[in-house]
Amino acid sequence: MISIIGSGRVGTSIAFLCVSNALDDVLLLNRTKDKAIGESLDIANAIPSTSKFSIHGTDDYSKLSGSDVVVIAASTGIYQKDRTENIHSQVKMIKEIAKKIKCYCPSAIILLISNPLDVLTYFFQRETTLPRFKIIGVASSLDTSRFRYLISKKFNIPQSLISNALVLGEHGDSMTPIFSGVSVDKNPLLSMVGDDEIFSLTRSVRNYWKKLRDYKSRSQFGIAKNTYDVLDAIVHSKELSIPASVVLEGEYGEHDVAMGVPVKINQHGIFEIQKIKLNQFETDMLQNSSKKIRGYITSQI
Ligand SMILES: NC(=O)c1ccc[n+]([C@@H]2O[C@H](COP(=O)([O-])OP(=O)(O)OC[C@H]3O[C@@H](n4cnc5c(N)ncnc54)[C@H](OP(=O)(O)O)[C@@H]3O)[C@@H](O)[C@H]2O)c1
Repeated sequence: MISIIGSGRVGTSIAFLCVSNALDDVLLLNRTKDKAIGESLDIANAIPSTSKFSIHGTDDYSKLSGSDVVVIAASTGIYQKDRTENIHSQVKMIKEIAKKIKCYCPSAIILLISNPLDVLTYFFQRETTLPRFKIIGVASSLDTSRFRYLISKKFNIPQSLISNALVLGEHGDSMTPIFSGVSVDKNPLLSMVGDDEIFSLTRSVRNYWKKLRDYKSRSQFGIAKNTYDVLDAIVHSKELSIPASVVLEGEYGEHDVAMGVPVKINQHGIFEIQKIKLNQFETDMLQNSSKKIRGYITSQI
């Protein structure tokens, strides 16, 4: 069973993909019970006639028992200018949710979606003391989708011609797009762009959500698809290589922080943190990113 905590835009979009693709049974858990019930009644009509799975809504945390995976997409408020705006209430919320999960489904794999993503991934692990590789912060894969999209727009080519786009570090203003590995129609991206364009693409990927908000209140579908891919890998025992946030113990020279790094995922959660080559500029940017996340963490201890 896949349990999704938070029946807002993101939680319900993830649930819709799981149900309509007959991935597994889904439990929607929301603070306001009626919302969970209403959304599950709606999404239930997307169950394919060939599916053996169903969906239910609740506000009762004890129903989490038996969950194989728990997705946390709950939010106490909407930020306007920065994902860390509601950090205090979000950290408080994640600690409460962590206690419930430790009580009712301590063996589940946890996918963190709520912001500030890296800070919450860190505090969830700290609060539960569950194995760090079972706790996956999903966001850098969305940032990577955005990076790939922006490159494809810039060169007016389909995304299928772009290889190895990658964004690491904070799911926030210090996220680090990795240009050095990217190829565009088999040509190295770095041979096609100058410093100004690197700066401009970096700024665009970091500010993608702000641009989107000029037209729509909040994003939901990109993160839903990226989360669904992780769920699919877990449920169907597939190997998936993506960047994701995980508590680091020396990888990339970092300790006691969670941030987006390249990982391999299978039915057990993360099974490897991949070491990839970065140039000096990228290494410095990533270090700045981890420093920033650590600062936020320290402010909440
Ligand atoms: N990782 C990423 O790349 C990414 C991308 C997009 C969004 N996000 C994040 O995902 C989160 C959800 O976004 P959204 O747009 O779906 O927000 P939303 O529409 O405001 O929904 C949030 C939901 O969480 C529920 N909730 C709050 N506290 C809860 C608790 N303790 N237990 C259970 N449910 C609780 C709320 O319930 P009520 O009905 O009672 O209000 C609400 O239904 C946000 O933190 C957002 O920043 C992350």
